[in-house]
Amino acid sequence: MSIEHVPVMMEEIVEAFSPIEPGAGICDATFGGGGHTARLLELCSTCTVTAIDADPIMVQRGRDRFAGTGHLTILHGWFDDVLPTLSPQDRILMDVGVSMFHLREAARGFSLRDDGPLDMRLDPSGDDESAASLIGRLSEGDLADVIFRYGEERYARRIARAIVRERGAGIDTTTRLAEIVWAAVPPPYRRGRMHPATRTFQALRIAINDELGRIERAVPRAAAALAPGGRLAVITFHSLEDRIVKHLFRRLAGRATGDRSEPLVIHPPMMESTHAADHPMYEEEGRFRLVNRKPIVPTEHEVASNPASRSAKLRVLERTTGEGDR
Ligand SMILES: C[S@@+](CC[C@H](N)C(=O)[O-])C[C@H]1O[C@@H](n2cnc3c(N)ncnc32)[C@H](O)[C@@H]1O
Repeated sequence: MSIEHVPVMMEEIVEAFSPIEPGAGICDATFGGGGHTARLLELCSTCTVTAIDADPIMVQRGRDRFAGTGHLTILHGWFDDVLPTLSPQDRILMDVGVSMFHLREAARGFSLRDDGPLDMRLDPSGDDESAASLIGRLSEGDLADVIFRYGEERYARRIARAIVRERGAGIDTTTRLAEIVWAAVPPPYRRGRMHPATRTFQALRIAINDELGRIERAVPRAAAALAPGGRLAVITFHSLEDRIVKHLFRRLAGRATGDRSEPLVIHPPMMESTHAADHPMYEEEGRFRLVNRKPIVPTEHEVASNPASRSAKLRVLERTTGEGDR
């Protein structure tokens, strides 16, 4: 496994988390290749670090890499499930989405350039279905809804129609799906900066892993897990993710604007029942402050050296109330 994930906005995270008191509790809720964890361990040798990842391969790789690091525990699980089980934390990081390893490792089925099975599960050890299975069973309308809602793909209807037309012969590989999407969209769309199947792949990945629903549930749960003065930093990579974090942070900071009943994510109707968020955090409203009004973005230098960082946005929230208020 030679593919390395370059951690994004490392210095910005260090700044957002400074100072870290000796003995603090730190949680890296998206361990991945362990880049951020390694830096946090360096910064605080007396801290207790808990790392989480849904992908068992990431967890195993991390346990091998950090074997013998007594104050680090790497847990396998979804962050929205694991965060509520933790003792109060002083610093929590969520660097959401998939890592470069997932995108480049053809066998995981996220890559539209290298041929691999159409899988896309972050946790292949669980009961979740693969992307091949999802596109094999959804109606044309439901498939179009998934591609439109989670991919913000304007040609969702044409793409869904083409998938349904071709799936009789089986669409089991990433390159087969990419070819079908390519053929389904108008020619000028094929000449854009992105491959025309990029948004379709994003949509399927989000649907398979319930990525947006998990962020929606995890942010209030992470906030609830913060000790007084504790900080939560979330790095997102596209507007659907950032919108959720921005609105939840504002609510938690008691600065909500607009209609609170308006959903933060419009899930495709057939996914609403399983993917919808719970919002148990409103009793906590006003017990946090926004550390930055505007999201922090990577420097030009970082974007030049790591183009994958270009759409990253970092938001930081701090619990302000005293222990008695919790
Ligand atoms: C962008 S990568 C993190 C990279 C990491 N910060 C580093 O420095 O290497 C995101 C990681 O979080 C994991 N992940 C994504 N969503 C998750 C969730 N809901 N629960 C747990 N892990 C998740 C993915 O498997 C992936 O390894």
